[in-house]
Amino acid sequence: MPENVTPQQLAETHEQALREFNSINDLESLKTFASETVGKKSNLGNWFAQLKTLDVETKKELGPKLQAFKNYWEQACMTAQQEIETAILNEKLKSDFIDVSQSYPARKGAMHPLSQVQRHIEKIFTGMGFEIADGPEVETEWHNFDALNVPENHPARDMQDTFFVNSTKDESLKNSVLRTQTSNIQIRKMLEKGAPVRIIAPGRVYRNEDVDATHDAMFYQVEGLVVDENISVSHLKGTLETMLSAVFAKTMKVRIRPGYFPFVEPGLEVDIWWEYTDKNGNEKGRWLEFCGAGMVHPNVLRNSNVDPEKYSGFAFGFGLTRLVMMKYGIEDIRLLASNKREFLQQF
Ligand code: PHE
Repeated sequence: MPENVTPQQLAETHEQALREFNSINDLESLKTFASETVGKKSNLGNWFAQLKTLDVETKKELGPKLQAFKNYWEQACMTAQQEIETAILNEKLKSDFIDVSQSYPARKGAMHPLSQVQRHIEKIFTGMGFEIADGPEVETEWHNFDALNVPENHPARDMQDTFFVNSTKDESLKNSVLRTQTSNIQIRKMLEKGAPVRIIAPGRVYRNEDVDATHDAMFYQVEGLVVDENISVSHLKGTLETMLSAVFAKTMKVRIRPGYFPFVEPGLEVDIWWEYTDKNGNEKGRWLEFCGAGMVHPNVLRNSNVDPEKYSGFAFGFGLTRLVMMKYGIEDIRLLASNKREFLQQF
């Protein structure tokens, strides 16, 4: 402890402090410096105490100087502390910066493969001048069967295992079924618009199936109907070949053979030539059943108020679900409704 502090000594202490102060740039050293210069560890307290013992002249000279020294360094330390804190904060803001306007790599969802193919098919057909039609899934027996030339008790009703809707409460649901086919839209559209008509109708259909890898109680069909003057089977063939070639992005071959559906005459089965690679890596091909089709039965036209003398038409109905499974090589129909991410992420 210096015996008697002198102005000289004070000036030197100040100089010394200035030199030290300039090299301080962190809070820890600033704290130490402040404590040693104006705080508890400094000589300032003693120096003020010594003032009392000094003569008046020296007291007059030294007193204000001591006070000035104290003020100067208290102020300097406070300012420096603020500067360092601000610098630290700015540094932190820079590194922690969150740009809320920036897009971040969120995991995007995708359309279900069924919807993707459905939309593709809708595009293909609208390109050919078709309209997209829709209709109820809870349907009257009349629209689903009778009007399509499948009268009650006709054995053809057994071709489709049907869910009957028996509501005792809702009178409008009496004699209703979950539609077994999209062919109900043929009737509805012709009744609504008359002829000529050119539509496809994608949608859900229901059958009382035991669910396994290739059967589900609900699946998707796409109905097609063209009614106009001078429509023939070759229009049907060309339309399906165009659609299939677009879906599979390569030329697809189609074969037509006789089949039976009560609402078409002649009734046809459409097969497609399916090329695949077998287990041994050999390129193979075979005919695969693709859909039911035919020329619209005159009774169906009549039931829909269309004159069979003037108009003819073709109709087809294929399984969209099955087409999607073929396109992507999906072997279990149940995956499509499974909501499994590992499955869906592939599309
Ligand atoms: N509706 C028939 C079925 O579901 C398919 C079909 C549609 C057949 C149109 C002929 C004409 O099996």
